Amino acid sequence: MTHPHTTEPYNFDKIINRRGTHALKTDALLTRFGKTNLIPLWVADMDFATPPFITEALKKRINHPIFGYTQESPGYRPAITQWLKRLHNWNVDPEWLTYIPGIVKGIGLAINTLTNPKDNIIIQPPVYYPFQTVPQNNQRTVIHNPLKLTPDGYQMDFPQLEHTLTQGAKALILSNPHNPSGTVWTRDTLATLADLCAKHHTLVISDEIHADMTLFQHRHTPFATASNTAAQNSITFAAPSKTFNIPGIISSFAIVPNETIRTRFYTWLKANELNTPNLFAAIATEAAYTKGWKWRKALIEYLEKNAQFTTQYITEHLPNIHVIPPQASFLIWLDCRDLHLSHHDLIDLFVNRAGLALNDGETFGPGGSGFMRLNIGTPQSILKKALQQLLKANKGLRTHHT
Ligand SMILES: Cc1ncc(COP(=O)(O)O)c(C=O)c1O
Repeated sequence: MTHPHTTEPYNFDKIINRRGTHALKTDALLTRFGKTNLIPLWVADMDFATPPFITEALKKRINHPIFGYTQESPGYRPAITQWLKRLHNWNVDPEWLTYIPGIVKGIGLAINTLTNPKDNIIIQPPVYYPFQTVPQNNQRTVIHNPLKLTPDGYQMDFPQLEHTLTQGAKALILSNPHNPSGTVWTRDTLATLADLCAKHHTLVISDEIHADMTLFQHRHTPFATASNTAAQNSITFAAPSKTFNIPGIISSFAIVPNETIRTRFYTWLKANELNTPNLFAAIATEAAYTKGWKWRKALIEYLEKNAQFTTQYITEHLPNIHVIPPQASFLIWLDCRDLHLSHHDLIDLFVNRAGLALNDGETFGPGGSGFMRLNIGTPQSILKKALQQLLKANKGLRTHHT
């Protein structure tokens, strides 16, 4: 039976209890927020069941009783390259590809192999916080080129970037599409970025983990396809983990078209045996990319409905909160600055008064203060309950203040 919210028989409305599974989103609430009775809308995974074609492929393998050493399956690379061709029109030579044990780890590995302690690394906040912490914890100097929030959404500040690049930077880490704002960068923006970085010998590390979930007809441009300059001066990281809700399986990969950069990076990965997919990663990746086309479409339809619902609800009932219109993925960036609350009071409103666990905007760096990141990768009934709780808490707050 076709479910009312999708064109396919996938049920994104089903509520699945994740508590007690060691899920970070539910089971780390006490340590991160000080209480457990919160609706968890933070960590960037979804509350939907991993699609059946992936669980079935994994179950089939689990039926065999030996989980010994494995080699990369012959279908692993073609599954990835064909998916990238079909979805993003990107021709990737299988030679350019390697498995990596996670994108955050991949960024750390690239920074360690291709830059030196004290080197400058540029990031564009507000941005996914490991872009700051990974280089910093590896003794690199993180330089900010903050994004500009305009009436048309977030934009890169190129004059400022040019100035920053002249100070000398070994790498720039790009979130493409952007987390937390959900911005899908245009080909022109990426090509300009590529030219500036190449001119100053700054490598671009493009994190494209959210690329397969563009919303409302927006189209993702892989950084390496923006121009030949971009292709020859970049490392791209991607994964099926966000789209198919399998981040716990660790199924990321890297793509490096330039031979010199690739040899430096991959030689080191190989030397440390970090380049071979674990047994389950290869199975899940292959199943996702060979059987996931319709599921991805149904997921996007559902996420678009959740995004529309959230935007409408907030616009109608919470006019002091502004939704940055999401162009990709399941994370919505909420501008709460018109609530005129201190950081402490904003967190108090969401956590203690509304009973919600969202990501605090300040953790995304400069430009994040006064914002909250809402995860809409959840059944719409949960989202509705969360927004109702927020409305009630906000009303209580205003009554209390007047
Ligand atoms: C932009 C971005 N990069 C990377 C990750 C994590 O990737 P991995 O689990 O492969 O380290 C996330 C997860 O939230 C993300 O949003």
